[in-house]
Amino acid sequence: MQLDVVTLFPDWFDWFAGQRHVRNVLAEGHELRTLGLREHTPLTGGQVDDTPFGGGAGMVLRVDVMDAALRAHYGEDPTELRLRRRVIALTPGGRMLDDAYVDELAAEPALTLLCGRYEGFDERIVQHLASDTLSVGRYVLSGGELAAMVVADAVLRKLPGALGHADSAVEESFSTALEGHPEYPHYTRPARHRGWEVPEVLLSGHHEEIRQWRRARSIERGGA
Ligand code: ADE
Repeated sequence: MQLDVVTLFPDWFDWFAGQRHVRNVLAEGHELRTLGLREHTPLTGGQVDDTPFGGGAGMVLRVDVMDAALRAHYGEDPTELRLRRRVIALTPGGRMLDDAYVDELAAEPALTLLCGRYEGFDERIVQHLASDTLSVGRYVLSGGELAAMVVADAVLRKLPGALGHADSAVEESFSTALEGHPEYPHYTRPARHRGWEVPEVLLSGHHEEIRQWRRARSIERGGA
């Protein structure tokens, strides 16, 4: 997968790219690239935003700036680009991220995440330059960068080779393997701490009983 992030703060992603599971997928040949909006702006002084028409607080990311950045990076009209590549505007009112959305994105060969800042995007970015919207929750972040990291983390860890153990991302919370339920509880050593016991069945070595117990706990947690 080629995962591109369009942002005012490309260096924020240096830390992210250094995390083990991200390094693992990059070593498999996947790519994580950042595209700095300020480096590509056609406006003077690195300007990227402007005051909203109609008045109001804050600044809005300009459509001409996003258009120019995407065009410079991909060498084609972004209105064409979005027909062949998922270009996702990160916005609090967007399509809510869940495990099914993550699976859908993890199956794509290429993604572009657009990070807004301040009061967000000029709506024409969403309408004409993006193919999708995405929200990480119904609350407002100061910009899309943390949301982009949430998306990148959730998507990249689904790719083969990201996690140490091949099954780790299959049977986990909200996955189809768990029929959409949250994951069952985990325990490790010590088996007893301050009188807090690990459920007996997990120490029993009976794989079928353990499987049934885990399934029951997962379903039980379903409503939470
Ligand atoms: N940008 C600002 N807030 C956001 C959110 N909740 N989800 C996605 N992008 C955002």
